[in-house]
Amino acid sequence: KRITAILPFYPYARQDKKHRGREPISARLVADLLKTAGADRIITVDLHTDQIQGFFDGPVDHMHAHSQLADHIREGYNLEHITVVSPDSGRVRVAEKWADSLGGAPLAFIHKTRDPLVPNQVKSNRVVGEVEGRTCILIDDMIDTGGTIAGAVKVLKEAGAGDVVIAATHGVLSHPAAERLASCGAKEVVVTNTLPISDDKLFPSLTVLSIAPLLGKTIREVFENGSVTSLFNGNA
Ligand code: R5P
Repeated sequence: KRITAILPFYPYARQDKKHRGREPISARLVADLLKTAGADRIITVDLHTDQIQGFFDGPVDHMHAHSQLADHIREGYNLEHITVVSPDSGRVRVAEKWADSLGGAPLAFIHKTRDPLVPNQVKSNRVVGEVEGRTCILIDDMIDTGGTIAGAVKVLKEAGAGDVVIAATHGVLSHPAAERLASCGAKEVVVTNTLPISDDKLFPSLTVLSIAPLLGKTIREVFENGSVTSLFNGNA
């Protein structure tokens, strides 16, 4: 009757626009490949940017791991001391949602610049906002090589932050992410298992939460023609 492709991690999501001439928009190609292969609908988690939903010709259920990650933070840390930090200016709106869900916590962000000709390398970082003595919850959609997030931890520490806790949905963890994260000074690194994390990438401060409950509930709503939006209390 209908084929639904479930992609906990949507590949090539960061290639959602031309960053310079003659680059492909590979995230769109992935959507076309899925459609051509016969997918009618997609369920996915924390796309790099919301507009990727529009690349696929059919319904896209864009789920968010925010609730699971935020529950973990609420259980482990004193909300009064928390500042939510976005690792770049593009993620400030997501950080605002985090701040709301953590009792109206203050916000800060890292001003990050990259050289478009040098992949996976950040040029410079500085903190915008007040982080001194605060428990910083540093959020991101994914950790790939760990360069962005380790750089952010460094500037937060230099700015006088207290504990830094990293919360990201996708643990891509390309080499040397595990080493960088383990030694960057973060108190805890929390990711979900939208991608399998092999044993050699595990380190003591890494917590891996299961995305299965969220996907299970979503699949049920889709197949019973229920409401996926209801899973976000109407705020999807
Ligand atoms: C950037 O816009 C993304 O949200 C991530 O911050 C980035 O892609 C992570 O890559 P890496 O861990 O290699 O710095």
